Amino acid sequence: MADYEIHEHDVLVIGAGGAGLRAAIEASSQGISVGLVCKSLLGKAHTVMAEGGVAAALANVDAKDGWETHYQDTMKGGKMLNNWRMVQLHAEEAPERVRELERWGAVFDRTKDGKILQRAFGGHTYKRLCHVGDRTGLEMIRTLQDRGVHQGIKVYMECCISRLLKDGDKIAGAFGYYREDGRFVLFKAKAIVLATGGVGKSFSVTSNSWEYTGDGHALAYDAGADLIDMEFVQFHPTGMVWPPGVRGLLVTEGVRGEGGILRNNKGERFMYKYLPEASRKDFAETDEEAKTWVDAILAGQQTEARRPPELSTRDNVARAIYNEVKEGRGSEHGGVYLDISYQDPERVKKKLPSMYHQFKDLADVDITAGPMEVGPTMHYIMGGVRVDADTAESRVPGLFAAGECSGGMHGANRLGGNSLSDLIVFGKRAGAGAADYAKKIESQPTISDEQVREAQEEMEAPFKRPDGKNPYDIAKQLNQIMSTHVGIYREEKDLETGIAKLEELKAQVKLAGIKGTRAYNPGWHLCRDLRNMFICSEAIARSALSRRESRGAHSRLDYTETDDEVWGQVNSAISRDGEAMKLDLTPKPEMPDDLKKLFVKKEPVNA
Ligand code: FUM
Repeated sequence: MADYEIHEHDVLVIGAGGAGLRAAIEASSQGISVGLVCKSLLGKAHTVMAEGGVAAALANVDAKDGWETHYQDTMKGGKMLNNWRMVQLHAEEAPERVRELERWGAVFDRTKDGKILQRAFGGHTYKRLCHVGDRTGLEMIRTLQDRGVHQGIKVYMECCISRLLKDGDKIAGAFGYYREDGRFVLFKAKAIVLATGGVGKSFSVTSNSWEYTGDGHALAYDAGADLIDMEFVQFHPTGMVWPPGVRGLLVTEGVRGEGGILRNNKGERFMYKYLPEASRKDFAETDEEAKTWVDAILAGQQTEARRPPELSTRDNVARAIYNEVKEGRGSEHGGVYLDISYQDPERVKKKLPSMYHQFKDLADVDITAGPMEVGPTMHYIMGGVRVDADTAESRVPGLFAAGECSGGMHGANRLGGNSLSDLIVFGKRAGAGAADYAKKIESQPTISDEQVREAQEEMEAPFKRPDGKNPYDIAKQLNQIMSTHVGIYREEKDLETGIAKLEELKAQVKLAGIKGTRAYNPGWHLCRDLRNMFICSEAIARSALSRRESRGAHSRLDYTETDDEVWGQVNSAISRDGEAMKLDLTPKPEMPDDLKKLFVKKEPVNA
């Protein structure tokens, strides 16, 4: 008798953040059997770290907004490397997905006349971020979870998938284990949606929690899918820098959206000097002008005043903070100051309740009375599984991906708030795509005993090396390599050194060992996670080495220019070639003329 559980579903969704939940809801609404696997407890997902809002051109606050402007902003923010069709679907469908959330019970903040309230965020021309204080992701997860559970989706909690299984070239299921007691589980499924989020745990300072080890990226890579744009890693400009135990924890962009000011240790409002030439005209030039903009928000009025410089795009603000600290103008714990304490304390607490408690409880700082210390934190990866824009299917038949583990939507740099809207737009599309695919398949694909045995042996291997390499040591060294050699600024020599170190350390993953049993054994879990972390880290480093230009979140010290003629035309694509990692440069999809017209004014894209 098999010593693993067996479950059968038409569609299996791996990952239960916003994208996974929305995919599962969509697939199950089509009357088919859906299983939802989550590595953690249901409701605990990085989605909750998108605090400040979900971007959708509802035009409730700035009447001039519309999907075309959202489209333009997203393409410009992504430095035109985005998949144009994904960006179009996203801009067109986000408003209806947000209204749908509201119908399902999400309680958004309101304008005086009862509409969903929207706030400013970096790179968005208009106030576009629908929000629930600074807990928007949390409210979204709560709403989707409620909807999904009541719709009868079968949830497998604290369950980790270690391999995708195929029948010939088609998806047939997945093998994994329960984290709590280590028992093995086999899922048979006609279609699989990956929605596992990001890769933050490859870096030492990150807003991501322990779950984010690039599982979906690595599972897809092993199954034969392409990973595109992996060089584009987003460092959110504002994470906590103190105390050490919470370094990297997110400080929402909503603070700057509500008028928060960045200063260095000389009291200078340094963002003015970092505005790229091409976008300078969109920003206030003086404190007086920036104040007019903030005063309008405080009064709940529309304004023609230009945005404060703190609302430049994330890539730019993160680089600015990094430079200020490097040049000796940082705060005492290696960050800069973010200050909103000039506003009415009651308003700050109402608009940013989580930030108030986060700083009070964790750092003993009252943000209504003084500034926060903040610095860049690895937050998001723009790169991921290459998918068809309309159906979210990868090049592996039956394998779909949505949310952070998919690529294309955000190009070289994501705008804040566009991840929550991405999750619901493409979560729904992936659920529909997977359901349509599964409905066309009459019986469950076949999974050979051999495949399952191999998957099981792979998981059992670390116990055969009780004196093997310590997985925690390997993870720590990996973090150091990525943070030192593949960080905010990159350079050929450094990247080559990083890749060589990764190669060397990767050999140790196969020698990692663990004592004890499969029950409650996080060291054992890490042995498996390390494999995924190395695949993603190597993909990031190799893609970064290949792109000889600076674009969005990818800043090369040796190639500082943005080269639209050559590099602006291609996406990097990583795929598996036997045991080797292959890198191709593939032409980016050509934008149709009617959309090109939205960019008539020729502007350099690195704005
Ligand atoms: O700053 C934030 O609230 C994060 C939002 C996002 O990553 O989209």
